Amino acid sequence: MQSIAIIGAGAMGAGIAQVAAQNGHSVFLHDQYPDALEKAEKHHRKILARLVEKGRLEKGEDQKILQRIAYVGELTELSEADLFIEAVVENLEVKTAIFQQLDQLASPEAILASNTSSLSIASIAGATQRPERVVGIHFFNPAPLMPLVEVIPSIATSEATLAQARQQIDDWGKVTVVAQDTPGFIVNRVARPFYGEAVRLYEEGVASPATIDWAITELGGFRMGPFTLMDFIGHDVNYTVSETVFKAFYYDPRYRPNFTQKRLVEAGWLGRKSGKGFYQYGENPQNPEPQKDQALGQTILERIVIMLINEAADARFLNIASTEDIDRAMTKGVNYPKGLLAWADEWGAEECVRRMDALQAEYGEDRYRCSPLLRRMARQGATFY
Ligand code: NAI
Repeated sequence: MQSIAIIGAGAMGAGIAQVAAQNGHSVFLHDQYPDALEKAEKHHRKILARLVEKGRLEKGEDQKILQRIAYVGELTELSEADLFIEAVVENLEVKTAIFQQLDQLASPEAILASNTSSLSIASIAGATQRPERVVGIHFFNPAPLMPLVEVIPSIATSEATLAQARQQIDDWGKVTVVAQDTPGFIVNRVARPFYGEAVRLYEEGVASPATIDWAITELGGFRMGPFTLMDFIGHDVNYTVSETVFKAFYYDPRYRPNFTQKRLVEAGWLGRKSGKGFYQYGENPQNPEPQKDQALGQTILERIVIMLINEAADARFLNIASTEDIDRAMTKGVNYPKGLLAWADEWGAEECVRRMDALQAEYGEDRYRCSPLLRRMARQGATFY
């Protein structure tokens, strides 16, 4: 593919445009708002100059990359592109209006892709007369740094479209995984308990956010604890994803959002960006120390990990993705220290079932129901790998 068009020059669109230009494509970056285009161009200049300073790009290479990007104010100027990647606001009406226009102006061979995190690819493809050429290409933030890209065919996407799209993203040096067109795809589905179970432990009074974060990072080897990560993502964003996934799963209690996070959003304590969330930021933040109790830490870690394993096993059970892709998604998309299904093998299916059943017996909540796949594997003495 020669030419790539990106629609939406926000955080994601600008990042994806940079990836494509660094890989030698001519890129058209479009946004409805001239300010957004200006901001994206400034961002590119700054970030590429910094890469030269750090020796990651040769001198002069930054200018060549910049010359490959055209910042365009009219959608019609994108017509020559071979691959279109839409990254505008997460709103189905806005996205379908754009796909209708792209369908009119793009060549019949062009692929139309969406970077949506939570909308179905089928609902976007349905706005076009070429649903077989529409696919989800879900990057992670920041796109130039995060290796994972989820590629999502809808029920209407052709095999050829999926293969071409995946090949293109692989050629950019990304790690691609293929996910079914279901809420949250892989990462945003499997990661729900990382936040949900951590908050639940806090709500039950088992430990403070600082202690839970300490257990997860120091004892578990995760790069960031759940409370630090939620503060970093922003509670408004993270809570909205939780709510969207919950509704999209027809209110399955396993995905129920929590009041704690809702209250933070209501209070405007959005995390790092507002100076306060679970923790304080800015000058002289007053944050409590973790309680570094090994036994308590292990209890916390094991409860969050078993919930993650159960979620990953259930995603496998429902054929959301292959075993390898589920593990790759969590290690390359959100830096988990180990693939969750590999982790399940370490503990053994029987032990995983025992832990889930113990939680369900204690709480009597459907949230703790064990995946049928783990149960079957325990019976058969089977492993994921
Ligand atoms: P953003 O708000 O930073 O950027 C959206 C851009 O789209 C803005 O510049 C806006 O001016 C532009 N826009 C809005 N309506 C438009 C229209 N009709 N025509 C042209 N441009 C229009 O949003 P962000 O974070 O870049 O997200 C974009 C998409 O990527 C969303 O679908 C989001 O769910 C998805 N995504 C976001 C991730 C994140 O961590 N921020 C991660 C992965 C996917």
